[in-house]
Amino acid sequence: MEKISRTKIIDLLASDKFGTTINVKGWVRTRRGSKQVNFIALNDGSTINNIQVVVDLANFDEEMLKLITTGACISVNGTLTESVGSGQSAEVQATEIEVLGAADNTYPLQKKGHSMEFLREVAHLRPRTNTFGAIFRIRHHMAIAIHKFFHDRGFFYFHTPIVTGSDCEGAGQMFQVTTMNLYDLKHDETGAIDYKNDFFGKQTSLTVSGQLEGELAAMSLGAIYTFGPTFRAENSNTPRHLAEFWMIEPEVAFNEIEDNMQLAEDFIKYCLQWALDNCMDDIQFLNNMFDKELIDRLNFVLSNEFVRLTYTEGVEILEKAVADGHKFEFPIFWGADLASEHERYLVENHFKKPVILTDYPKEIKSFYMKQNEDGKTVRAMDVLFPKIGEIIGGSQREEDYEKLSRRAKEMGVPEKDIWWYMDTRRYGTAPHSGFGLGFERLLLFVTGMSNIRDVIPFPRTPNNAEF
Ligand code: 4AD
Ligand code: MG
Repeated sequence: MEKISRTKIIDLLASDKFGTTINVKGWVRTRRGSKQVNFIALNDGSTINNIQVVVDLANFDEEMLKLITTGACISVNGTLTESVGSGQSAEVQATEIEVLGAADNTYPLQKKGHSMEFLREVAHLRPRTNTFGAIFRIRHHMAIAIHKFFHDRGFFYFHTPIVTGSDCEGAGQMFQVTTMNLYDLKHDETGAIDYKNDFFGKQTSLTVSGQLEGELAAMSLGAIYTFGPTFRAENSNTPRHLAEFWMIEPEVAFNEIEDNMQLAEDFIKYCLQWALDNCMDDIQFLNNMFDKELIDRLNFVLSNEFVRLTYTEGVEILEKAVADGHKFEFPIFWGADLASEHERYLVENHFKKPVILTDYPKEIKSFYMKQNEDGKTVRAMDVLFPKIGEIIGGSQREEDYEKLSRRAKEMGVPEKDIWWYMDTRRYGTAPHSGFGLGFERLLLFVTGMSNIRDVIPFPRTPNNAEF
């Protein structure tokens, strides 16, 4: 076959250089036609759109043609021609075809309309479907948007460790990291496991948040963000929880809770606008296939201010709903941790807009949050979204050494694990705030998918770490 440098399908479809000889490579989506002419829909991942390859069967070897089946990878030399029937502007009249990789008839993505559950079982191949091609291109673009948002505003991307000796959220939902022989564990005099001979000489886990180290960085670089993998061993088999997810955590010196809320709102809106500006083909496809309200919902959030209210006000609304006959699965009262159904009631039924709830009871929030004068609440903020519930969790941080130390003790966070964190409050402490955005929760909103397992390439959930 003549060597011609490859052009991506996205560029071919945008080209009007009809008559030129080109090379295109990709995977066969479908093949149809008559005894004389066949039409191959070819996709190379550069765009959701396929290019049509027109094959005059008489010009090609029969044995080679047999190998051009759904899933096969081919390289085509041909003439770019203006298309009349394929729904695209350009197509390729094939002159030479090489089968780079045949796919036998066990290829699982034969027919259209596989269920999302089935596609999770073939997560190694599902990026080859239109849906997952769209989702993973959007995922890429959103990562770029996030870096651009912060970079343009003078934030520094700060890398926090993945292996850690502290439990930031204090929830004890950590995966242990060890090189010890689990069949022959050594114990100390008290009968406890002796970690002195473990790899790090102490007990370590995968991080549940980069926040504590992020705060150290904010106290020197001023404004930072982290963006990395995060691990939680919570046994929640829900459409919104992963054991391994990605979190973005900005942390800003001198910001108070109001600044933090504004940053969160600006940040999310920037990401949504970016999606509409850069991923419209893919979003349009998902809108048509799965969720006819997706684009409207994105525009709606962009054009409305987030509602801001306190937890106490939120609970009053929910209690009134119950009094008016609304049924929740979980009880609602001041002090209760809000369930997803409560959050969604506020957002979807009551305000019909994204909501930022602040000033939660201190008992249901982490030790590091700034304590309010009332002695009961902390300066927490959760951003609640339609269809998702909590998309962001954050707070102003307690900058006072004594108050923080007392709260850590009360909540059973051992100071020996966080002495370095406490040092920030001893050496030039300052008001500061930050939050964490769950990357996959953002992607749920942007793609309209209903299960978080479908917006990460290889989901890790209870009883599932395949691929
Ligand atoms: O509310 P969370 O637990 O807050 C923190 O971790 C803070 N340290 C953040 C900070 O202030 N820097 O988690 C933050 C967000 C949640 O709002 C949610 O979007 C996401 O992370 N998240 C999860 N996403 C997927 N699967 C899980 N198991 C998640 N747990 C939290
Ligand atoms: Mg939270």
